[in-house]
Amino acid sequence: MSGEKKITVSVIKADIGSLAGHHVVHPELLEVARKEMKKAIQDKIIKDAYVTNVGDDLELIMLHDKGENNEKVHELAWNTFLKAAKRARELKLYGAGQDLLSDSFSGNVKGMGPGSAEIEFAPRKSDPLVVFAMDKTEPSAFNLPLFRIFADPFNTAGLVIDPKMHGEDLEHTGFKFKVINVYEGKYVVLKVPEEMYDLLALIGSTDTYSIERIWRYDDEPAAAISTSKLSLIAGKYVGKDDPVAIVRAQSGFPALGEVLEPFSFPFAVAGFMRGSHFGPIMPCPQKHATPSRFDGPPRVIALGFNVTEERLVGPADLFDDPAFDYARQQANLITDYFRRHGPFMPHRLGEKELEYTTLPLVLEKLAKRFQKVEE
Ligand code: F6R
Ligand code: MG
Ligand code: MG
Repeated sequence: MSGEKKITVSVIKADIGSLAGHHVVHPELLEVARKEMKKAIQDKIIKDAYVTNVGDDLELIMLHDKGENNEKVHELAWNTFLKAAKRARELKLYGAGQDLLSDSFSGNVKGMGPGSAEIEFAPRKSDPLVVFAMDKTEPSAFNLPLFRIFADPFNTAGLVIDPKMHGEDLEHTGFKFKVINVYEGKYVVLKVPEEMYDLLALIGSTDTYSIERIWRYDDEPAAAISTSKLSLIAGKYVGKDDPVAIVRAQSGFPALGEVLEPFSFPFAVAGFMRGSHFGPIMPCPQKHATPSRFDGPPRVIALGFNVTEERLVGPADLFDDPAFDYARQQANLITDYFRRHGPFMPHRLGEKELEYTTLPLVLEKLAKRFQKVEE
């Protein structure tokens, strides 16, 4: 593998306006983005691209050879979002330009509103990977499934029986997780299986910690997740940072089915209505990435590709499978259960998370009416 030219998959996304509320990207915006991607392929900025959406988020999935955080690639994404936002304004779509928090491009979309997950690697004989995209939730929604994919032997049989994952000794076994504290902007790298309990001690607190990267024990990149905190950038509530992730599969990585298996359980995530409620994540095919009930329930799509040096071959719409019907049905039941709590916790988020929503503006009004409790 050494000496070979590396390839990069960049997934850059933004909510730049949607139809009928915070619902779905309008087809004309997808068309604008596809046109820009086609032009960029002709201009040799990127090699290939696939444009899609989950709910009100527009995703640009790009293949190139320029490495991660490349200015040209990021500028291309930024300009594409600008053009699509212009169209959104013309159509008077809802929230037109919402995630474009800066007036001008400054080298990288990070910190400017859009989210990005990028992964650079030396090509193998065959390179299957999955691009996940979620709507109406936050980056730490990937904590649970990523732990199960890369660290839980009850999910990933390969951790036990694949010699490429289960090496001679601990040094040649397992995966490393980069975990970010989103409030403090600090990170730590922990290796499993040795530090599994420490890892769980952090990532179980999904209000604070988010997995941003995963490598195999030999430092081969395995996964990348977008982790921007829009509200911390903007200093006020501007919607959830609906996240994307790239996960490599097969032949020394978890098998495709092991990568998808955690989503057979519709675990609870923060987001949903007004970014202020817990609800189940519903795995769905592209055609059902249309959150409507109570602005949700939160959705996740999974697109499978084979990546060559020149092409993104695919995608396969991986949750378009009756094997996930039961998870969807459970997600509907769980939605009913949570909804019946109305404005009460645990449907509504705790105080710490609500700090970055519109609730504090309401509470401010009451602040002066509070009196000291007598001892
Ligand atoms: C959730 C989301 C929506 C909006 C809600 C209110 O991430 O974006 O649930 O928060 O539709 O939107 P506004 O305040 O724009 O009317
Ligand atoms: Mg929106
Ligand atoms: Mg969204």
